[in-house]
Amino acid sequence: MKVRCTVHRDFRVSRIDDRLYSAFIEHMGRAIYSGIFEPGHPAADAHGFRQDVLAFVRDLNIPAIRYPGGNFVSAYDWKDGIGPVHERPIRLDLAWRSTETNRIGTNEFAAWADLAGIEMMLAVNLGTGSLQDAREFLEYVNYPGGTAWSDLRRSHGVERPYGVKMWCLGNEMDGSWQIGHRKARDYGRIADETSKALKTLDPGIETIVCGSSNDEMETYPDWEHTVLEECYENVDYISLHKYFGNRSRDTLNFFGKIEQTGRYIQAIAGTIDHVKARKRAKNDVYICFDEWNVWYHKRAEEKEKIRKWDWPEAPALLEEDYNFEDALFVGGLLNEFIRRSDRVKIACIAQLVNVIAPIRAERGGPAWRQTIYWPYQMASLYGRGEAMAVHVDGPTYDCRVAEDVSYLDVAVTHDPAAAMLTVFVLNRHLSEAADLDMDLAGFTPGEIALHRVMEGHELRATNSATAPDRIAPVKGHDAAIDEGRLRARLNPLSYNVIRINLSQE
Ligand code: AHR
Repeated sequence: MKVRCTVHRDFRVSRIDDRLYSAFIEHMGRAIYSGIFEPGHPAADAHGFRQDVLAFVRDLNIPAIRYPGGNFVSAYDWKDGIGPVHERPIRLDLAWRSTETNRIGTNEFAAWADLAGIEMMLAVNLGTGSLQDAREFLEYVNYPGGTAWSDLRRSHGVERPYGVKMWCLGNEMDGSWQIGHRKARDYGRIADETSKALKTLDPGIETIVCGSSNDEMETYPDWEHTVLEECYENVDYISLHKYFGNRSRDTLNFFGKIEQTGRYIQAIAGTIDHVKARKRAKNDVYICFDEWNVWYHKRAEEKEKIRKWDWPEAPALLEEDYNFEDALFVGGLLNEFIRRSDRVKIACIAQLVNVIAPIRAERGGPAWRQTIYWPYQMASLYGRGEAMAVHVDGPTYDCRVAEDVSYLDVAVTHDPAAAMLTVFVLNRHLSEAADLDMDLAGFTPGEIALHRVMEGHELRATNSATAPDRIAPVKGHDAAIDEGRLRARLNPLSYNVIRINLSQE
């Protein structure tokens, strides 16, 4: 098939917020315990942090990480996780029916994030927790000293405040499964009051209010409307969450969920605009897509498993094995985030290690990278700068979740500082290669600086502890600059990243 695309130097969508490539880690399953932290493991440092996992994390160049949950945060008392470790209480975690030792708390996680070079994004408990708990938490974390909570932090060996900028006001508060679940109006009220109090304490922070748990919730999108009516002027972002699956084994429909996500983003953007207009508000609220990933391979059985088990400590939970199809999907979804970077400023892959994650850490064994690690890494490394408007003219298909879906899913970023144009292309055609002809109007392209491709695998093929590198990007060959245009032959079911040096920037 032939596909013509046009980008023009003057037509950019938005500057991309680096935090579009953020991640999420929760106290659940083996994410923390035997994920990032496993004292006694051959790769652990003196603090018990696994260096093999850290190396894979660092290679992702992750800007920010959301912590400590997730459903976990809605019954979590942050005070359980500070002070001398041997004095910390062992608690029952109601979200995942597990035992939480509190061996890792805010300060240990902060130390890990620092080693990884990642900024923390903290969530407060608005399930069982109160506004008072939230403000004390902020005071402990961000206030320099001379008050009870800040001096307590200093007495715990952390002299300088962390200066955490992003604060999530609870988690998925619309969900009946959430401990302390609330009605939209009630949640909007407490979120507003909490945000106001937190910003009084530290005017430099940004707050994220909970949107719906996904676009299939019965209360969606009224939830967003009601919540924003209560707190619009006092918050900075509204969260979106969505997990994807292909239970029916319909690959084109699965890939059509990328377009469906675009509609979800658009609906929330419209809701934000509506509330802003009604309130005659001056401030802007953006989208924080703070949980996204593929999650379906083991989902149904896990629910049953949790219901039956007896409060285990760090059990294997939600350890999805990601296949090649999932990697292609993740590449396309990240393209959608780039295209909508005018409204989506922060996005967090959920999660980072072991639990629905790009990195697997075997207990006592090796760490390895799942298929989805690679598109996430390439987007994070190369998708910085400005998102460009792209016009795609080529064959399309209809599926259950979307119509008129282009077989070629394209996003383009321009990094003026690096004088680089990056083209991300998913060819979702099941059998046909695409001959891409891209007009790079207004740019003076030099040569191809890099072409990486993921292609040629069985859709169900995965990596594993014994075959950790089976699926990974390889060097692409069929791309060239020809009379100022990008021409490339892109194989069916392939994800491509093509970087082009620009001259005369
Ligand atoms: O990421 C796993 C869970 O999915 C989170 O705890 C929750 O927020 C979502 O439902």
